[in-house]
Amino acid sequence: MNLILLGAPGAGKGTQAEVISETLLIPQISTGNMLREAVANGTEYGVKAKAAMDSGALVSDDIVIGILKERIAQDDCKDGFILDGFPRSVPQAEALDEMGVKIDKVLEIFVPDKTIQARVSGRRVCESCGATYHIEYKPSKQDGICDKCGGKTIIRKDDMLETVLKRLATYHETTEPLKSYYENQGKLETVVGQEEVAETTALTLKAVGAK
Ligand code: AP5
Repeated sequence: MNLILLGAPGAGKGTQAEVISETLLIPQISTGNMLREAVANGTEYGVKAKAAMDSGALVSDDIVIGILKERIAQDDCKDGFILDGFPRSVPQAEALDEMGVKIDKVLEIFVPDKTIQARVSGRRVCESCGATYHIEYKPSKQDGICDKCGGKTIIRKDDMLETVLKRLATYHETTEPLKSYYENQGKLETVVGQEEVAETTALTLKAVGAK
């Protein structure tokens, strides 16, 4: 199954993509994580992407489409994948169609902007593997240490309130039109994000036919 997870920054796409990946045994492809890794490694893509990411703007389509193309050509994607954070604009969705990638379902995780602002301020991410936690809703077992790989959990640079507001504005302007793009293709399903991660997870797994 080829899935797209759509939603505003901090709505819980990454959290849900992780669970679906573990349940359906298909890889989670997070362009945000891939870009953060490129920035940390100082690659050519990373150097170009850094300024846009730090300010809350989108990285240019040609960079992200290039990264995505290379990733989905890898062997572990042949039985399906979850795109977490891609596409993020109509041109990116058109590029996916032009690549001949067949998408089975687009799952929108909907959470109001006000809730997102509160959530993102408590988010912690593993600097090694990218796993996501929340100090209140999804704490790691040991404070500051990733449950999965033992790496250090940190606050993301773009989780400052001012940057989050910019990311939300970019989402409404550039990414939200994808809802009608995929609705017109009959592929869009919306899950309303709940207060508890487990409650959202139950709805998500049902939507992808895993429960
Ligand atoms: P990216 O990493 O994709 O960030 P984002 O879309 O802004 O999404 P987030 O990772 O912030 O949130 P999420 O929806 O995954 O939420 P999470 O599960 O963490 O992109 C970063 C940047 O890279 C972009 O700004 C852009 O510059 C660039 N980029 C990436 N892809 C691009 C593309 N295709 N084109 C151009 N540029 C691109 O949840 C948030 C928090 O809430 C967590 O702490 C979590 O534990 C908690 N939480 C989750 N669910 C619940 C719940 N039900 N109840 C309570 N808390 C919850």
